[in-house]
Amino acid sequence: MYDKIKPFLFKLDPEVAHNLAQIALSSARRCPLFFNFMIDKYFVDDKMLHQKIFGLRFLNPIGTAAGFDKDAKMIHALPALGFAWGELGAVTPKPQEGNAKPRVWRHISEQSLQNAFGFNNEGVDVIASRLDKIYPFILPLCMNIGKNKATPPQDAIDDYKILVTKLKNRVDFFTVNVSSPNTPNLRALLNEEFISTLFKELKSITTKPILIKLSPDMPLDLAVSVAKSAVDNGADGVIATNTTVDYSLVSNPQKVGGLSGRVLKEKSFKMFKALADELFAKTVLISVGGIDSAQEAYKRIRAGASLVQIFTAFIYHGPQLIKDINQQLLTLLKRDGFSHISEAIGVDVGKSMHKISTLHKKIQKRKHLKARLYKGYK
Ligand code: FNR
Repeated sequence: MYDKIKPFLFKLDPEVAHNLAQIALSSARRCPLFFNFMIDKYFVDDKMLHQKIFGLRFLNPIGTAAGFDKDAKMIHALPALGFAWGELGAVTPKPQEGNAKPRVWRHISEQSLQNAFGFNNEGVDVIASRLDKIYPFILPLCMNIGKNKATPPQDAIDDYKILVTKLKNRVDFFTVNVSSPNTPNLRALLNEEFISTLFKELKSITTKPILIKLSPDMPLDLAVSVAKSAVDNGADGVIATNTTVDYSLVSNPQKVGGLSGRVLKEKSFKMFKALADELFAKTVLISVGGIDSAQEAYKRIRAGASLVQIFTAFIYHGPQLIKDINQQLLTLLKRDGFSHISEAIGVDVGKSMHKISTLHKKIQKRKHLKARLYKGYK
């Protein structure tokens, strides 16, 4: 079905196409027969994929990534598109226009997108009243929270506090977004001092889980230390990663915004793996960035991801992709002898660490040998 609509949508400016799809999906909820047909067609519900995380029931691991439904208008459509959970937003305290248009571009041959939206959204009050009509929803809902562009960095914590206070009874969990490249100086907040204060403050407002989302452009050791201090100060999980500003990854980049999709795949995975080596089993890890196949989703799960998110590949392939990934995940799990997804999560974590420690032992042994040799010479 998506194959038939896509050529028309891809003739339009990407933002216009997204808005049209949004109008169609939000009005389609008045037609439950259509949604039921879509759910039957695309939603994979198999016990092997069911998980309870944060006390919430995830029927499969795939959720929408932030930015897909900024104003919480398409929540009803989530299961019809095959997704088992959704991250909404980013929402800011005050409504915001975002950056000048055009602000999203397709890199079709690279199956990627570049966006410079800049947190355009209707503001927390409008979004909160929209959520009142639907929450609690049948699937877990997360809200991505960001600061207003006009808020100076020293007041940023207040923006996040307002958002958590107003939304704590209207979503199931939160993601703190300090990793978008499209709000000036936002990424400067990705430092241990700010993050630890922020999480202490936010966790005093709600008992709901709060996760941190990281930028793939951070040095790996900084990403790990920021994630650790978030976790030490109450963060319940880590999402890696947001978009990248490494424009060398596409042949014809714009000068602004962040890249997502296929070109982000390796960079995002590299950061996820570094985080998992330190934090797997200590917190919930969610992988996002360039996931476009069951093989890639499975790789992230084996690397420690309890859940995954997809945005760009969905724009290119539609709901059939989400169905295919879930179905093929089942096949991959069975092939490898797992009877449930939880058995596969993290099985590859530490393999390299193990190799490193074996290597250390070998070097150690050699040292002993050398020492013996030296002794022999004495
Ligand atoms: C995004 N992304 C994003 N992330 C975030 O934390 N808050 C946001 O508001 C947005 N907005 C947004 C808009 C658009 C148009 C895109 C393409 C992306 C980033 C997104 O959630 C995700 O981290 C990346 O897109 C990587 O995943 P994919 O797209 O490669 O699957």
